[in-house]
Amino acid sequence: MAVIAVVGSINIDFVIYLERFPRVDETVSDGVYEIHFGGKGANQAVGLSRLGCKVYMIGKVGMDSLGDMAIENLRRNGVNVDHVRRERATHTGTAFILVNREGNTMISVAPGANKLLSPIEAEESLRAIGKVDAVLAQLEIPMETVERVSRVSEELGAKFILTPAPAKKIPEEVLKRTHTIIPNRTEIFRILGREPRRQLEEEIEDAARELVKMGVENVVITLGEHGAALYSRGMDRVSMIPAAKPERVVDTTGAGDAFTACYSYGVASGMSIIDSVKLGSICASIKISRKGAQEGLPRLEEVLKKLGNN
Ligand code: ATP
Ligand code: RIB
Repeated sequence: MAVIAVVGSINIDFVIYLERFPRVDETVSDGVYEIHFGGKGANQAVGLSRLGCKVYMIGKVGMDSLGDMAIENLRRNGVNVDHVRRERATHTGTAFILVNREGNTMISVAPGANKLLSPIEAEESLRAIGKVDAVLAQLEIPMETVERVSRVSEELGAKFILTPAPAKKIPEEVLKRTHTIIPNRTEIFRILGREPRRQLEEEIEDAARELVKMGVENVVITLGEHGAALYSRGMDRVSMIPAAKPERVVDTTGAGDAFTACYSYGVASGMSIIDSVKLGSICASIKISRKGAQEGLPRLEEVLKKLGNN
């Protein structure tokens, strides 16, 4: 069984499903309101647990009822919560999300306690957990914490897998220690601190090469309905992996997290990088056919069944 630590955000998502997004200064009514569990870290942790991994969540929530709900939800999903800390100074992370008829999203986040997860807290937790196959992180916690986590992962001999979202420039020492980075099509340019200039496809290949030159071992760029592009150290060209066909698109919140969870399951279980990308695409295609970042995450049997039918 693969053992994985996820160091990242835990949010409660307040979602309104609407016919269409409002424009600036406009109100669109008749939406449907739902509360879902979210946060990129928690989404990935629940995704991995549903796939059968042993998962440790390292994160922080407030001393409020949202924090109680978030911890209880992780526990219910089989995630070890011994390293989820409580913070008095602020609230549990929250996201306000609009989802339109096509399943596209607009997300605003108030990170609260996530922003107070310190490097030393993350390090203490990782060392206490000890041997893990992989450590996953995203950028909804402080960059200094991500930096420390990448360093300790290297010392512990664990693969460090980074989702660079929300995108910001990443220190080279972090990139050097990264087994896989999984940006989407806009994040890959933001982490390099520039905008795309020419044809997106050519530009993506250049950006992936740049990241590999800086020390990343594998770059997986998610491209929504167009699937994913893979560029690993030693490859001549980027390899394109088509998306799996979803039954329907209801809510794309957390599509990237579903992809990352399943990809990481594959890598931590000893599968090839390309097969892990294919598995990630299947998992994401199932998730987007259901509401909520976590509720729609599939179990391993469902992923394997769809893989067999593809
Ligand atoms: P999010 O921020 O919503 O989590 P993202 O922008 O990080 O998503 P995307 O590139 O949009 O990530 O999607 C991640 C993966 O989900 C894609 O690589 C693809 O496998 C799958 N996916 C997303 N949208 C679709 C779609 N419409 N049809 C099929 N697969 C999709
Ligand atoms: O990746 C999706 C997640 O981003 C949502 O669950 C929301 O909480 C934000 O963190």
